Amino acid sequence: MLIFAIFLILVSSSSAYVLEEECLNYTVYPVQYELTLIPHVYKDGNSYYDCDLVITIIANGPNVNIIELDAKDLEIKRDSVQVLDGNVNLVNEYRPYEFDNSRGKLFIYLREPLKQYSLSRQQYFIRISFLKRLSSESDGIFLVQYDEDGKQQYLFTTRLSPNKAKYFFPCFDNPQFEAVFKFKVYVTSPHPSLQYCNTSLVIADEQKRQQSNGYTIIEYIPSPQVALYQVGFHHSKFGSRQTTAKKTNDTLVIWAPGSTLKHYDFILVYGETIINLIHEYAAINRPLVNGPINVVSVPRILHGYEIGSWNLLTNSDTRLAYINELTSIKQMERMKFELAQQLSRIWLGNPGEVQRTRWKEEWFKEGVAGYLAYYLLTQYNNGMVSYKQRLPIGIYGLEMKHKAMAIDWAHTTPALASFNRTLAIEIPNRYKDLVTTKTASLLWMVENWIGTEKFHQALVNYINSRRGKDISLIDFMASLDHDTVECFHQFFNGSTSSRVLNSWFHQSGYPVVNVLVLRDRTPNAVQMKQVRFSYIEKDRVDSNYLIPISYIVQHNQNCFNCFQPRFTIGSQTYTFRENLNGGWIILNRNASGYYRVNYDEETWRLIAKALQDDHTFIDELNRAQIVNDVFALFAAGSLREDIALEVLDYLNKELSHVVWESVVSGFDLLKTEGVKMTRTLYEEWKEFMQTKVSVIYKRLTMSLEQHSNVRLFRSTIVQFACSVEYEPCLLEMNQQYREQIRSNKRLNPDYRETFYYYFFSGGKSNIGGNLSRCELEDKTSAEHLWRLENKFLYRIPKGEPKPLPIMKSTTTTTTTEIPITPSPIPTGRGVVAFIPFTTLLSAVLILITLM
Ligand SMILES: *[C@@H]1O[C@H](CO)[C@@H](O)[C@H](O)[C@H]1NC(C)=O
Ligand SMILES: *[C@@H]1O[C@H](CO)[C@@H](O)[C@H](O)[C@H]1NC(C)=O
Ligand SMILES: *[C@@H]1O[C@H](CO)[C@@H](O)[C@H](O)[C@H]1NC(C)=O
Ligand SMILES: *[C@@H]1O[C@H](CO)[C@@H](O)[C@H](O)[C@H]1NC(C)=O
Ligand SMILES: *[C@@H]1O[C@H](CO)[C@@H](O)[C@H](O)[C@H]1NC(C)=O
Ligand SMILES: *[C@@H]1O[C@H](CO)[C@@H](O)[C@H](O)[C@H]1NC(C)=O
Ligand SMILES: *[C@@H]1O[C@H](CO)[C@@H](O)[C@H](O)[C@H]1NC(C)=O
Repeated sequence: MLIFAIFLILVSSSSAYVLEEECLNYTVYPVQYELTLIPHVYKDGNSYYDCDLVITIIANGPNVNIIELDAKDLEIKRDSVQVLDGNVNLVNEYRPYEFDNSRGKLFIYLREPLKQYSLSRQQYFIRISFLKRLSSESDGIFLVQYDEDGKQQYLFTTRLSPNKAKYFFPCFDNPQFEAVFKFKVYVTSPHPSLQYCNTSLVIADEQKRQQSNGYTIIEYIPSPQVALYQVGFHHSKFGSRQTTAKKTNDTLVIWAPGSTLKHYDFILVYGETIINLIHEYAAINRPLVNGPINVVSVPRILHGYEIGSWNLLTNSDTRLAYINELTSIKQMERMKFELAQQLSRIWLGNPGEVQRTRWKEEWFKEGVAGYLAYYLLTQYNNGMVSYKQRLPIGIYGLEMKHKAMAIDWAHTTPALASFNRTLAIEIPNRYKDLVTTKTASLLWMVENWIGTEKFHQALVNYINSRRGKDISLIDFMASLDHDTVECFHQFFNGSTSSRVLNSWFHQSGYPVVNVLVLRDRTPNAVQMKQVRFSYIEKDRVDSNYLIPISYIVQHNQNCFNCFQPRFTIGSQTYTFRENLNGGWIILNRNASGYYRVNYDEETWRLIAKALQDDHTFIDELNRAQIVNDVFALFAAGSLREDIALEVLDYLNKELSHVVWESVVSGFDLLKTEGVKMTRTLYEEWKEFMQTKVSVIYKRLTMSLEQHSNVRLFRSTIVQFACSVEYEPCLLEMNQQYREQIRSNKRLNPDYRETFYYYFFSGGKSNIGGNLSRCELEDKTSAEHLWRLENKFLYRIPKGEPKPLPIMKSTTTTTTTEIPITPSPIPTGRGVVAFIPFTTLLSAVLILITLM
């Protein structure tokens, strides 16, 4: 590819734009789009807009006789198409243009070729007028019908990612092209048959307004250079509320139907807090964007923000509004995550910054944004915001890691580095989560390896130093090594952060470290060997990830490595000496390593015994990792069932949220495609889990505590208990069902998805017709889960019952009689004393313990 640099000064606006593009086998390049929009929103729902479009173009090669534009579902006005060189129209009068709607192409034929810009500095103007009719099914720009105070209302809004701009206006639909956008909107005056619309939003601020011929004409300042998928337009009668950050003029404006604005208090305060946290983190007061960030709450189900949006964001109202009796705690978690993620993306680089920061590898930007979102959520700490002290990301860290690991094992999964220069919008949907959660998990691993402070300092310094410049992975790695180089001497063989990260970025998947303790010698020898993890035996090949190893031991008085250096291992079998004195060793301290660990039988038994005796002796993050590994290793056939059950047997005493989240995601692994599972075996595991979940189920459902940590934990446990058919949970759902029939009472939103699941599994299908969008979302999601479960059951064979009773559980089937008050765990004080840092998790534990 050629590198083609174009420097040009647009006369039409005061500033100079410098374009630098990797070329572009395209022969025509758009520099500016000027859109004059005249929306018509009728009260009967019939809606369209007229548009006059002027595109400033330059020719990027010789012999351009045909201009090829992308356009779809537009009605081009005859004779409106012109290509102007000054006042001269170059369009071929005998054959002006051809519009092929099915292919989405508009060809304009010229009577003489355009002059190449590099030789002539000549600009041309394409003029097109067209009409666009809108319906709620339209692509790209669509009509939304909603109900406000019993009246039907309509609005227009766009969602142009990844390539829908051609439905909005004719354009050169190449995501690499960036251009300036100038909008002018003609707003009609109130009229009996028209719906009055007083809100128009585009990706630039308003410049002036004037009245003319019954129209209010709004002109906007030219936008910065953006790609088509970063453009947006919104037209409605929405109202707004706004808030401004503490340290900068960053303003967050939420747009929604006027009568519903009260539901946006939460997201507004939350959004402002996240922006404040970002400024605190960055340690400099640089605004995220020039001008306000408009967030439009669209009354329709949409799946999250558009990745590239920066000052005009759209999302479903269910992901922005908080309505106490309707919004479930999971919906609230999702709305928090999504906004934190979007604001992180904006902070990392956007077209509206003072100086533009660009990421060469957008997958990496997505990963960093994902990591920051979890980090910010942790510091937000459910409203008890921590500005001064960094809270460790513990529970969110495990969540993202387990999400990534559940996708990352198949041998067809690509390595992260293979996304290379792929634009974020073009990463295939099935890998979007992987890119975000795996990159974030690897950053977490490195954070724990080199130390939290050092890691964050290096990250922030790097981002701050590259403002207005390019960010590339190579450059990032060099800078990270430079800033963390003093650790270099601590490590046995000189691994640096970049070498560790690179070994994971360039390979897909993750390993399991097999640990064998040779206890027949003094000191004992600990042997470690890594193998690629897979549920399919033939894919378990030797691997070569550079793994930072950290561990803890049971009797740690003389442990040399426990707290100080953590070394890295590669593909070789690695042995070190450590006296275990008959105790266990646990690898992957703090659970932040992106790998699983399998131990020899004796060590597993020692771990099982330790958990049974006093599970709080092992930190909750380590317990969480152990239980998740046990499920995965059993599912993969690498761990015998009796050992797996022995380790998990202590779970009836487990009261930690993060551990139970790990159990739930671990249990799901049993259903992975490729796992040798039978219906009989699955039933046995469900019965086993019933006995384990009973205590925590009872505690949480009896508690009236409404703190969001507890609500989230409760919602997870209720869903899990019902999914393994724990009787009291099913009875509860049945009860809710009867109450709903009798008194039409609203369901507890936190139980709603479980309720719908129960409803489907009972063979019922028609849930009362008039559901809100919050309820609809849960219903769809429950239906999806139910279908997956059925597909799984259909796929696996029936299987034979085992000859031996599998359960050696200490709590067998009398669980329903377990008294609620006496607590089988240590006293509240004991728990508080053991937890060394105040995370949200300890808050949960304390609450539960004191119940
Ligand atoms: C450029 O376009 C020409 C003709 O359309 C094609 O033959 C050529 O392969 C293209 N080059 C690149 C680098 O895409
Ligand atoms: C537009 O009108 C609606 C209702 O008439 C009102 O609630 C809203 O605040 C107005 N919006 C603006 C931007 O003035
Ligand atoms: C921020 O707001 C203050 C007070 O309104 C104003 O003085 C200042 O110029 C603004 N800064 C920017 C960068 O817009
Ligand atoms: C990524 O793309 C660049 C340029 O397109 C290329 O030079 C490089 O080799 C690619 N890297 C990988 C890992 O594919
Ligand atoms: C050191 O790093 C290399 C990879 O560069 C690896 O093969 C080796 O096992 C590592 N660990 C130790 C302790 O030597
Ligand atoms: C890691 O775990 C240890 C105890 O095993 C704990 O003291 C420490 O605070 C944890 N660190 C982080 C970052 O969670
Ligand atoms: C649906 O709900 C709306 C208000 O929420 C109500 O006005 C309407 O009558 C309900 N329709 C039915 C069929 O229940």
